[in-house]
Amino acid sequence: MRSLLLSSLCALLIALQPVVAVWPIPKKFKTGNTTLFLHQNLEIKYNDNLTQYTFGYEAATFDSHDIVRAGVSRALSTLFGEQFVPWMLHKPGDKFEPDVNGNLKWIKMLEITQTGKDDSEKILKPKAGEVDESYNLTLSADGEVKLTAVSSIGVLRGLETFIQLFYQHSAGTFWYTPYAPVEIEDEPKFDHRGLLIDTSRHFFPVDHILRTIDALAWNKMNRLHFHVTDSQSWPLEIPSMPELHKKGAHHPAFTYSPTDVDRIFKYGAMRGVQVYFEIDMPGHIGSVALSHPELITAWNARPYDAYCAQPPCGNFKLNSTKVDEFVKRLFDDLFPRISKYTSYFHTGGDEIKYKAYTLDDTVKSDKEDVLKPLLQKFFDKSHKQVRDAKLTPIVWEESVEKYNLALEKDVIVQTWTGDGKVQNVTSKGYGVIDSNVNYWYLDCGRGQWVLFDNNEYARGWPFNDWCGPTKSWQRIYSHDPRANLTAEQAKLVLGGEVAAWSETIDPLNFDPLVWPRASAAGEALWSGNKLESGQNRSQLEVAPRLFEWRERMVARGIRAAPLTQLFCTQRSPEECLWENPN
Ligand SMILES: *[C@@H]1O[C@H](CO)[C@@H](O)[C@H](O)[C@H]1NC(C)=O
Ligand SMILES: *[C@@H]1O[C@H](CO)[C@@H](O)[C@H](O)[C@H]1NC(C)=O
Ligand SMILES: *[C@@H]1O[C@H](CO)[C@@H](O)[C@H](O)[C@H]1NC(C)=O
Ligand SMILES: *[C@@H]1O[C@H](CO)[C@@H](O)[C@H](O)[C@H]1NC(C)=O
Ligand SMILES: *[C@@H]1O[C@H](CO)[C@@H](O)[C@H](O)[C@H]1NC(C)=O
Ligand SMILES: *[C@@H]1O[C@H](CO)[C@@H](O)[C@H](O)[C@H]1NC(C)=O
Ligand SMILES: *[C@@H]1O[C@H](CO)[C@@H](O)[C@H](O)[C@H]1NC(C)=O
Repeated sequence: MRSLLLSSLCALLIALQPVVAVWPIPKKFKTGNTTLFLHQNLEIKYNDNLTQYTFGYEAATFDSHDIVRAGVSRALSTLFGEQFVPWMLHKPGDKFEPDVNGNLKWIKMLEITQTGKDDSEKILKPKAGEVDESYNLTLSADGEVKLTAVSSIGVLRGLETFIQLFYQHSAGTFWYTPYAPVEIEDEPKFDHRGLLIDTSRHFFPVDHILRTIDALAWNKMNRLHFHVTDSQSWPLEIPSMPELHKKGAHHPAFTYSPTDVDRIFKYGAMRGVQVYFEIDMPGHIGSVALSHPELITAWNARPYDAYCAQPPCGNFKLNSTKVDEFVKRLFDDLFPRISKYTSYFHTGGDEIKYKAYTLDDTVKSDKEDVLKPLLQKFFDKSHKQVRDAKLTPIVWEESVEKYNLALEKDVIVQTWTGDGKVQNVTSKGYGVIDSNVNYWYLDCGRGQWVLFDNNEYARGWPFNDWCGPTKSWQRIYSHDPRANLTAEQAKLVLGGEVAAWSETIDPLNFDPLVWPRASAAGEALWSGNKLESGQNRSQLEVAPRLFEWRERMVARGIRAAPLTQLFCTQRSPEECLWENPN
């Protein structure tokens, strides 16, 4: 009886707790119920030095003060610009806003202390774990805000949390938090928290990529894996070989110039989102055939399914000095421009069908014992150049799982084909970035795009894609890349990435397919999907925050999809809980 009473009391307390939409949830998080207002001319100090909120300020240098000043300006511009009045989180008719007449309590000062000194090289392009992203944030009931972090990137993470505590008032230019006093301690569980975009199947303009970087930073995600080329198109301008994009782009305007590349990589670095390129090879490189046919085998070979995973096919020839010279020229052109801003380069290596090499005049074989040594040489040569440019090579899992190559142990392996792969790759001693298709492929479950003529119609029916069903936010959230690992293996997991392969994604539907489902992975990677006790975080706690976060991202201009009906966002989560009727 007593425990029943106690548990129903607990349930009542949870139900009465206000929605507190910090996403991802901090490691330690205490809130109160005092309301404080924020002035637009709030005084801000950084290490005992006054700093300014300047609308639209972009840092010109990577000096710590400049990174922080730009971060402060961005955070406050975002808050003052988003106009997030959270009516959709309250029942119609409920009075949820504070009174703005009378004596308001104001936030007095935002005091930022950076306890460490930024390493000027690493702050731009940290490898996993090289920059401390932790921060502490306190907001006292009488309006003192203290943000402490070791690095300037930690300051940026804390500023994002800070602004998520505030709402705009429907009466106009009032911003308030109902949650003071606040005490937060926070740090990420995983060092690598990313999104993969694919600009070969569809082109995404620079502005689209920049706003995606902003959204990643809001979600405390810190990597943008930029799968820039593939067999479908070559949008990347390589000044020493302009024929590549001139013949390989989908449209003359669909290219990334060196200025665009610099802008994207720098924009990310400034926000603590490291951008890195993937140029997938030796498969997935058919678009090079449009300008350099002599380098490519099986270009647009039919039936495609025999030679590659999807049309059009095209692999680098595997025993060709011309290919070696080309790759060298490509890397010599590209690496000096990107290595300022990134520590990684992904050389792909996935989905090679050996039959493609029966058409390769330098090999003419599909035998593993012939191809494996050639693949080994190909990977080793390209990785040597990656390392010579002071970049760390990343590859897809097939290289060590399927072709069984012996790669150096500095190579990071990206797993994707399903459960058990992280276990196997870490047990071989490689660092892992996990993009398990069963959870973290955002493109899955929306139907087939390959065509089936009448004679093959039955084979295609009912026209599902290969990796359905659609990954719901709950399923995405449930995935822990360290599941089932020994402590030793777990140490090798850097983190993960959600993937937005773009056969059927372009700038028109990108936002609703990526957001807020990528946010679900973002929290699983930053906060972990379990409580400290080891229990799974409850959907009753997680969902209201994610629903609120979706609304805030929409207010910021991201066309994030709704995850539930308004009836549910307006009420306590219990009202949309499934219960066993028996
Ligand atoms: C605010 O929280 C305090 C301490 O938990 C509690 O005593 C008080 O009743 C709360 N006030 C309101 C208005 O909810
Ligand atoms: C203090 O601010 C001034 C003006 O913005 C700047 O020149 C100076 O470098 C800052 N000092 C520190 C220690 O950040
Ligand atoms: C945050 O507070 C905890 C507990 O006091 C402390 O151990 C940690 O160093 C603090 N972190 C920062 C970035 O100040
Ligand atoms: C690779 O090319 C060299 C030089 O043309 C040739 O001698 C060698 O037999 C080729 N290797 C294979 C496996 O075809
Ligand atoms: C973990 O192990 C369980 C039980 O063997 C299995 O069902 C599940 O697929 C594994 N998960 C991953 C992500 O490997
Ligand atoms: C992992 O490796 C074992 C041993 O080689 C193999 O039997 C198993 O199929 C592999 N698991 C996966 C998911 O590839
Ligand atoms: C916790 O989540 C994991 C991963 O989805 C799941 O396998 C497990 O059943 C959940 N545990 C409980 C008690 O629901």
